[in-house]
Amino acid sequence: MSGNSTIIRDSFSSKFGVIAAAAGSAVGLGNIWRFPLVACQNGGGAFLILYIGFVLIIGIPVLLSEFSIGRRAQLNAFGSFRAIAPKTKWSLVGLLGIIAAFTILAFYSTVAGWTLEYFTQAVSGKFANVSDMSKNFSDFSSHPYRPLIWQLLFMILTASVVFAGIKKGIEKLTKILMPILVILIIAVVVRSVSLPGASQGLHYLFVPDWSAVTFTTVLMALGQAAFSLSIGMGALITYGSYIQKDNHLLNTSIQVAMADTGIAILSSLMVIPAVFAFTSSGLSEFSPGPGLVFEVLPNVFKSMPGGGAFSIMFFFLLAVAALTSTISVLEVVVAFFKEELKMSRGKATIIASVAIAALGVLATLSFGLLKDITLFNFTIFEMLNYLSANVLLTFGALLIVIFVGWKMGKSQFYDEISNNGTIKSGIYKIIFFIIRYIAPVAIGIIAIAAFFVDGITG
Ligand code: PFF
Repeated sequence: MSGNSTIIRDSFSSKFGVIAAAAGSAVGLGNIWRFPLVACQNGGGAFLILYIGFVLIIGIPVLLSEFSIGRRAQLNAFGSFRAIAPKTKWSLVGLLGIIAAFTILAFYSTVAGWTLEYFTQAVSGKFANVSDMSKNFSDFSSHPYRPLIWQLLFMILTASVVFAGIKKGIEKLTKILMPILVILIIAVVVRSVSLPGASQGLHYLFVPDWSAVTFTTVLMALGQAAFSLSIGMGALITYGSYIQKDNHLLNTSIQVAMADTGIAILSSLMVIPAVFAFTSSGLSEFSPGPGLVFEVLPNVFKSMPGGGAFSIMFFFLLAVAALTSTISVLEVVVAFFKEELKMSRGKATIIASVAIAALGVLATLSFGLLKDITLFNFTIFEMLNYLSANVLLTFGALLIVIFVGWKMGKSQFYDEISNNGTIKSGIYKIIFFIIRYIAPVAIGIIAIAAFFVDGITG
């Protein structure tokens, strides 16, 4: 199954390149911005435990499924399903991924744009003079055009990396920058957990309160795991199609999942104790919103020695982490346009970016001019955010495990993950069992229960 032989496909240059690109996709705003926010809104410790459980029983099997579909077919997400299951409707799962790419990138580029603004605020030393960080954030995010400029700039950055073709530049860049990001996060964690009052935050994060858990909480944890691991929409099918044939896909999947989960946990250790330290009554009087990281962390930087330099590095690296994720989302659409609609990479990149940016502008404006446009009490931004992770990616992950478990089947799957029988491992059987039975049943039950029992807003 070699795909269309007239297309010369790029591929990653090394094993580490694969990890850097896939972990670059996984580690992003989902870990540092979204995880602490969703954890704060959904009960802290209980959420964390559910989250880790989902990474293990659903995340890793879906990661491996996506890599194996892409590497087997050597095509974009849509084409991969068509190549493995010709003349069926399975390629629609790929189309669903294209839609998810639009909804994700639309709101993600809003937040990515904020990171650029905060980088410039850090460089100018502004935080030292701000007494109310929440007001600082709401003034900026509701401004009629400043956040838009940053968002568009971020889309241009993303498009130029994708435009330039496969990830030589970004592979190299991520290899250097991701370790630095980890070191910086650890330094901020140390400061955050040693703030006076932080222990309440640690308690909130590590002592589960199961009474706060509803089906919606469970769905949120599942959606967050899918979002954070970049699964459920074909980003890893697309990247999988660039992976060398001798790569050990299971090891790669485990390494990516571990890096991603480690950074999500560190991020919550960075943010949640600080929330408790800076608000007298912790979460009881504080309702965390999308600005959480942008309101809490500048306060931490203000109170730590060398905080000015830290804040500059932190927001720079946050922007880089976002960029290594946005390129993977855009690449899903571009690979599709390029291979299925026979466009050049340049044309595909421009059309995809302009269309996504148009939707993205609405997401950004929903903090200001368009804040009164709501559906089920969600603003446009909140709707895109909820829809992406909790509906599209969750449903996408469900269809992907059903595809591998029941359509692609054991022998093709084993062939692909064992590199045609070269790697022997007893664990493959267990993983296939999870893919075929456990993951679909678990995802199905959670999604249906959250929808029918709790309703859309929980
Ligand atoms: N995993 C990314 C993050 O946690 O920020 C977001 C993301 C990237 C989601 C790529 C989906 C995707 F395909």
